[in-house]
Amino acid sequence: MTVTTSTEHSADSPLLDVVGVDKTFVMHLQDGVELPVLSGLGFRVHRGECVVLDGTSGAGKSSILKMVYGNYGVDRGRILLSGNDGTVDIAATDPRRILAARRNQVGYVSQFLRCVPRVPALQVVAEPLLERGADADVAEERAADLLTRLSIPERLWGLPPATFSGGEQQRVNIARGFLPDLPLLLLDEPTASLDAHNRDVVIDLIREKCSRGTGMLGIFHDSYVRTAVADRLIDVASFIPRPTTQEPNGAVA
Ligand SMILES: Nc1ncnc2c1ncn2[C@@H]1O[C@H](COP(=O)(O)OP(=O)(O)OP(=O)(O)O)[C@@H](O)[C@H]1O
Ligand SMILES: [Mg+2]
Repeated sequence: MTVTTSTEHSADSPLLDVVGVDKTFVMHLQDGVELPVLSGLGFRVHRGECVVLDGTSGAGKSSILKMVYGNYGVDRGRILLSGNDGTVDIAATDPRRILAARRNQVGYVSQFLRCVPRVPALQVVAEPLLERGADADVAEERAADLLTRLSIPERLWGLPPATFSGGEQQRVNIARGFLPDLPLLLLDEPTASLDAHNRDVVIDLIREKCSRGTGMLGIFHDSYVRTAVADRLIDVASFIPRPTTQEPNGAVA
């Protein structure tokens, strides 16, 4: 049985419950070299809470977001995502159910915008609402509001973001990720290339979304942002696998 469904989701139950997750990357193009990254990972995110993944570069923070979003598989453990559709174990379910969870339960603001050629910025931002059946005028109006708030000048709205500056692309990406109201939002360094004003706008957007009940799981290298938004920190270093040691008799301890 791969899909866990339940209609017993209450306001107190976590939106995300990560239980005993291990992750090892296997480099198939490098003679199958194995890279253990996480062991026994466990934490929860509740409604309205901003949980921040804390740890050094390479600790596995982005990998955690990708596992929760269903981009990376896991070796062991459960990733229980709850919402109006019930609860699904992202670590064990099928691709169709993962796509449904992305539509109704979890959003993801990746570090970089994946630009689709020839699609103008306003459409890129409005698209997630249009896909969910919103009226085109309403979707574009809300997209325009968010682009204005994030200081993207109106002269750029009709242009594809491929040639935008790094910070402009990042703000388009944030607007796109923040527009739909989903129960859980994953943020991978959304403020990395922003100036102080836009960084503060993003802090406000995060707080507003949390106050409306969205749970956030984020990564922020900037300690100013981390302090401003984090309700709780998860120390990813505490889930780094312990190196196995080889005993003289060949046994692995
Ligand atoms: N697809 C992949 N294939 C192989 N190894 C990977 C893959 N993705 C991540 N890794 C490895 O897993 C480890 C953790 O990477 P990850 O990107 O999760 O770190 P991070 O904590 O987000 O780091 P940073 O703060 O630099 O963004 C790294 O050693 C990385 O090389
Ligand atoms: Mg990362």
